[in-house]
Amino acid sequence: MKILVNGGAGYIGSHVVKLLGELGGHEITVVDNLVTGFKDAILYGDFVKLDLSDYDAVDKLFEEKKFDAVIHFAASLVVPESVEDPLKYYMNNTANTTNVIRSCIKHGVNKFIFSSTAATYGEPSAEFIPVKESTPTNPINPYGSSKLMSETVLKDTAFAFDDFKYIALRYFNVAGASVDGKIGQSTKGATHLIKVAAETACGKREKMYVFGDDYDTEDGTCIRDYIHVEDLALAHLKALEYLNEGNDSDIFNCGYGHGFSVLEVLETMRKVSGVDFTAEIKERRAGDPSILISDNTKIKEVMGWEPKYDDLELICKTALDWEKKLP
Ligand SMILES: NC(=O)c1ccc[n+]([C@@H]2O[C@H](COP(=O)([O-])OP(=O)(O)OC[C@H]3O[C@@H](n4cnc5c(N)ncnc54)[C@H](O)[C@@H]3O)[C@@H](O)[C@H]2O)c1
Repeated sequence: MKILVNGGAGYIGSHVVKLLGELGGHEITVVDNLVTGFKDAILYGDFVKLDLSDYDAVDKLFEEKKFDAVIHFAASLVVPESVEDPLKYYMNNTANTTNVIRSCIKHGVNKFIFSSTAATYGEPSAEFIPVKESTPTNPINPYGSSKLMSETVLKDTAFAFDDFKYIALRYFNVAGASVDGKIGQSTKGATHLIKVAAETACGKREKMYVFGDDYDTEDGTCIRDYIHVEDLALAHLKALEYLNEGNDSDIFNCGYGHGFSVLEVLETMRKVSGVDFTAEIKERRAGDPSILISDNTKIKEVMGWEPKYDDLELICKTALDWEKKLP
């Protein structure tokens, strides 16, 4: 297949490109403006440096390349920034995505895989944990809203154009690096817990912070569902297969269906690194639900996705090994 991967130089996109490349048989084109991505993370395919806000250039690329499918990772994804600068998020995550969808319709590209997020659920109450795809969406920041709006654009487009099919994958907390050590998360100034813990274990940070230890959980810290990036990459492959088999548009959670507290993650990172780094307790941050865990029954049963790396030690170890390679 001829596949356009928008944002393929980024953390998750580069792992999907690697998997597609290793599998072979696909013609991959990566589009990325390298704002948060890295060219050397793209191990396969052609690279086109382009900002998706350049609608004419995007459309020209569709005209030239005659893609069969689009996998769309490109986005802005820092939650506090989205609160301060919402228009950046609606422009990049909703408007630019809508434009790519428009080019799909114009050029007859009828398969679209979209990177969505658990942030579309907002702060689900205890009765909704673990979170199902049918749980009401209620994003509490512009990042989550901008993603949910793109899901709506996809849904309405698929309703209006019979041939157009999409899969929205709602990722939970993505972490770790490729098990062969070739690529990993290089994001500058990342706020993801496992990445920050790896940086701290490597001595790149003097200490790190735990935001709140008075939540209604066993040790008082928030619980999240951490999914290894290569298992998530596999979900994209499954989604592509699923659409190729002629199935209908749908939404799937991507997570392991169980979680770990912040303190459990830090203990695991200390164990795999052998470094007893400091983590200081701070006040809660606004908008952090105490527990966010996926119900992953649907993706397993409907698409036959089976994770291989549901192992917190392995996730922390691969993240740490990658961190050691970064300057
Ligand atoms: N990392 C997570 O834990 C997580 C969780 C849920 C959802 N997601 C979603 O997954 C996707 C990928 O996230 P990531 O962690 O790999 O982030 P990332 O920042 O590493 O990747 C995003 C890529 O898109 C590129 N990009 C952004 N705007 C662009 C534009 N206008 N034109 C061209 N390229 C552009 C960036 O340069 C980068 O390479 C995002 O859509 C994000 O919302 C991530």
